[in-house]
Amino acid sequence: MIVIVGVIALVVASIAIAVAIFVGSRARKAVPNGNAVVYRVRAYYATLLIATFVVVLFVTLGHVPYNAYADVKPTKIDVTGRMWSWELKGSKPGAVVVPSGAPVEFDVTSADVNHGFGIYDPQGHLIAQTQAMPGYTNKLRVIFETPGKYHVLCLEYCGLVHQAMFTEFTVQ
Ligand code: CUA
Repeated sequence: MIVIVGVIALVVASIAIAVAIFVGSRARKAVPNGNAVVYRVRAYYATLLIATFVVVLFVTLGHVPYNAYADVKPTKIDVTGRMWSWELKGSKPGAVVVPSGAPVEFDVTSADVNHGFGIYDPQGHLIAQTQAMPGYTNKLRVIFETPGKYHVLCLEYCGLVHQAMFTEFTVQ
C-alpha cells in the first residue's frame, strides 16, 4: 500500500514539474528581448531548484519512516479503563513488560465511561495518549526508546476518584 502511495506521489510530482517546465518555457518566449538576461538567470536558478528538488525527492522518498515497522508484529497489550482503575493485559500473566525499540500496540477500551489513556515516561513526560471509550477499541502504537518504569494516568475527568486511575508497566 505504502509503495503504491509513494509511486502515486512520484507520478503526481513529476506531472507538476513537467507542467511547470512547460508553462515556464512558453512564458519565456513571450518576453521582450530587453529582459533576456534577467529571465535567463531566473530560469537557471529555477532549473537548479527543480533539479535539486527532484534529486532530493527520489533519494529521500524511500526513507520515509512510516513503513519502517510495517512487517513487524507489535507486542499487544489489552487496556481496559474503568471507574477507577486501569487493567493492562499482556500475552503472559503477571506484570506487564514490553520491549524497547520495537512497536507496542495498546488496544484501549473502557468498561464504563470515557477515560483518557495517557502514557508517561520515567521522567514524567506524557509521550502518548488516546481515548478509552466504551464499546470501541482505540489502537495506540508506541515505540519506546528507553527502558524503565512507565506510568499510565487518566487524562479525562471521569468521576470522583479519577485521580486514582494510575498504573505502571515496564519497558526493558
Ligand atoms: Cu478515568 Cu479519569
